[in-house]
Amino acid sequence: MSTLITGIHSLVTNDPELGLGPLGLLADAAVVVEGERIAWVGPAASAPSGTDTVVDAGGRAVIPGFVDSHAHLVFAGDRTAEFNARMSGQAYTAGGIRTTVAATRAASDEALDANVARLVGEALRQGTTVLECKSGYGLTVEDEARALRIAGRHTDEVTFLGAHVVSPDYADDPAGYVDLVTGPMLDACAPHARWVDVFCERGAFDGDQARAVLTAGVARGLVPRVHANQLGEGPGVQLAVELGAASADHCTHLSEADVAALGSSGTVATLLPGAEFSTRAQYPDARRLLDAGATVALSTDCNPGSSFTTSVPFCIAVAVREMGMTPDEAVWSATAGGAAALRRTDVGVVKAGARADLVLLDAPSHVHLAYRPGVPLVTAVWRAGVREV
Ligand code: NIG
Ligand code: FE
Repeated sequence: MSTLITGIHSLVTNDPELGLGPLGLLADAAVVVEGERIAWVGPAASAPSGTDTVVDAGGRAVIPGFVDSHAHLVFAGDRTAEFNARMSGQAYTAGGIRTTVAATRAASDEALDANVARLVGEALRQGTTVLECKSGYGLTVEDEARALRIAGRHTDEVTFLGAHVVSPDYADDPAGYVDLVTGPMLDACAPHARWVDVFCERGAFDGDQARAVLTAGVARGLVPRVHANQLGEGPGVQLAVELGAASADHCTHLSEADVAALGSSGTVATLLPGAEFSTRAQYPDARRLLDAGATVALSTDCNPGSSFTTSVPFCIAVAVREMGMTPDEAVWSATAGGAAALRRTDVGVVKAGARADLVLLDAPSHVHLAYRPGVPLVTAVWRAGVREV
C-alpha cells in the first residue's frame, strides 16, 4: 500500500538536509508513504506518480507526529479535589501520588488497560504518535510489574518508576523500600521495561537513593531517565548527567552548574509545562537551556495529579508564551526533541526510511500551533503508515 500526500504548503521534516533551518522546512512539498515507512520526500512538482492513493493536503501544513517522551498513564481514580484545592492556593506535594496508588491497586487489569487505551487514543487525536508510559502507581512488586505489562500493550517505550514515592507500606522504612525496588521489584520489572526512572525530589527520593535505584536498573540492562529539579533545586540533574541518562525531566529549578551540565552533555532536558500549569508553579526557562546548548524536549507528563493533559499542542503554546521558546523551537522539541529523549532516530523526522508518522494540520504552517492556542488543528494522523485519524 502506497500513498502520495501532496499539496503540502509547508512541511516540517526536522532534517536540515531536506529544507530550511533546523526544522528542515520545505515549501510546496509532497511525501510518499510505502507500508509503514516514508519512501520519498521532496517538492510536489517532482513527486513520483503511480501510488495506490493520493491525499491532497490542500495547501496546509504537515509535521512529524509528536513524540511525547514522558507520561504516566497506568492509573485509576481521580484527583479533581486536589486540583481544586491547589487552585484555591494549596501547594503541590509529592504525597498526592499515594491517592492514585490506592485507587490503582484496587483497579482490575481491564480497567487499567481501558484507561491507558483511552488516553493513548486521546493523544493520537491530538497528533501524538509515540508515547512513553511509566509505572509508579503500584509500588508493590506485583502492582509495578502489572503496570508495565499493561503499558507494554500500548507502547514500546515502557519505563519502570517503582521509585515514584516511598510506598505507604514502607512509610517508616524508606531504606527498606529502596532495597525492595533495587532488588525483587527490579528483578520482576526489568524484563517488561526499556527505561528506569526515579523521582529525585524532597518528599520522594534523595540523591543517594536515586543513584541506588538508577544503577540497579542499569545493572539489569535498563537505560536511566530522571524526574529532576521539579519542585526545587537538588541533585537530580547532576546525577542524570553523571550517569549518562537519556533525559532529565522537569528541569524547573536549575543552578548555573545544572544548566552548564545539561548544555555540555548528551542528556536531553525534557520540559513539562503541563505540570507547572496545573500546579500553578513557575515555568522552566527553556531559553536559558537552549542558549547553553542543551537539547530540549517538550512533553505532557500526563498523569492524574500534576498534569492531566495529553495535549502536546497545548504544551507547545505554553512553551512559546511562557518559556522563551520560538514556535520553531517548540515544534522541534515536541517532535525531534522527544525522539532524542527516547534515543529514537526512526521517529520525529520526515525523511526516506523513517517511520511514517505524520500529522496534517488545518493551518498553513506549524507556527499556528502556538498562534492559535486551544484550537484543534490536527486534521489527519498517520502512525506507521496507517491513517488513524
Ligand atoms: O511528573 N513528579 C512526579 N510524578 C508526576 C506527578 C505524579 C502525581 O502527582 O501523581 C510528575 O509530575
Ligand atoms: Fe512525571
